[in-house]
Amino acid sequence: MGAEPYYGPDFGLLRRQDPELAQVLLDELDRVRGELQLIASENFTSPAVLAALGSTLTNKYAEGYPGRRYYGGCEVVDRAERLAVERARRLFGAEHANVQPHSGASANLAACAALLQPGDTMLAMALAHGGHLTHGSKVNFSGRWFDVVSYGVRRDTELIDYDEVRDLALRQRPKVIVCGATAYPRLIDFGAFRGIADEVGAWLLADVAHPIGLMAGGVIPSAVPYADVVTFTTHKVLRGPRGGAILCTEELAKRIDRAVFPFVQGGPLMHVVAAKAVALAEAMRPEFAGYARRVVVNARALTDALAAAGMRPVSGGTDTHLALIDLRDLGVSGAEAERRCAAAGITLNRNVIPYDPEPPAVTSGIRVGTPCLTTQGMGPEELEEVGTLVARAVRRPDEAEEVRARVSALLAIHPPYLSEY
Ligand SMILES: Cc1ncc(COP(=O)(O)O)c(C=O)c1O
Repeated sequence: MGAEPYYGPDFGLLRRQDPELAQVLLDELDRVRGELQLIASENFTSPAVLAALGSTLTNKYAEGYPGRRYYGGCEVVDRAERLAVERARRLFGAEHANVQPHSGASANLAACAALLQPGDTMLAMALAHGGHLTHGSKVNFSGRWFDVVSYGVRRDTELIDYDEVRDLALRQRPKVIVCGATAYPRLIDFGAFRGIADEVGAWLLADVAHPIGLMAGGVIPSAVPYADVVTFTTHKVLRGPRGGAILCTEELAKRIDRAVFPFVQGGPLMHVVAAKAVALAEAMRPEFAGYARRVVVNARALTDALAAAGMRPVSGGTDTHLALIDLRDLGVSGAEAERRCAAAGITLNRNVIPYDPEPPAVTSGIRVGTPCLTTQGMGPEELEEVGTLVARAVRRPDEAEEVRARVSALLAIHPPYLSEY
């Protein structure tokens, strides 16, 4: 025992005991230090978040809620959950918070379970236009159990067509309207959605898994004042551990809590709940507002550079941390662009674009985002260069080695998990 009473990860021990698995951890660190991470849904958590995640709280069973558990010995972990709940409520100005969902998908399942019965009608954004699997895809619970009506974006503007949303709502009378997306680069007008939901007497569920970190930083309008239920993930721009959470009105608090446990989940992951509390406290600091602002500034610089290099941003640009790029003019598929970028040391994902003629495994687009590179300390100048590197990697696969050399030079100045947080 050292002077520190804390008992936590000992990598040397892992390496001695299980060198094969230890090597996986080292190789993954090498990978993120050796490539530019442009996946819009990823980030690098702080060492403090990692410490909570790697803690002995993983051992504790705590079915139920603080003060009302179905196991003994929960009085200590109760404090972690109360901190996480209080911080989430304070940060987002919400009446109620549930921090137990294991993921964004579990949060959405719980929200649907709280608001809908099988066979009820839900109006949500089509997956092919930027919505998420949990918003009504046939291969997901949402599409299997509910009668799903989908809205999309307009062909000309590539923006949500609020007139279409209203028309569909008036005709189909959904019990829940879902707003929020996984690949929509623009601001969503939550006020307009609220108005439509009120007109037809529907609940409004905002799934802000992606931009919640920008809302925490105060750089884009929050969904909380408008939606009855807000679901989100904690691991994207928000920079916490992998997980989900739900905010709601006092009116729905009991329904949401019962839907998360015991309907959808069993015991909460208390080490993750503790790590969520750490991340939420980090997101309350003024530095985080600065980070969120830089994420958006960087996304604009990246998108402008891509556009200047002939790679068309869907909807003409971005207001958030991500952009969707239409590659059809280049005659390169999303899948091929993803492969070419990987060969040049740039990690991103192919993505369908609205009205995409290609199937999801191929696609005509790529999605790029700036949460990771911003955490690494890069600014708009670097992101402008990253844009030119992405364009070069996609257009000139024969120049992959030269692109990789520039990628390495950028990473040498801004490596993840080597500099100060
Ligand atoms: C809008 C939206 N909702 C839900 C999810 C699901 O989150 P998870 O992967 O944690 O289940 C995602 C993930 O990307 C998302 O973008």
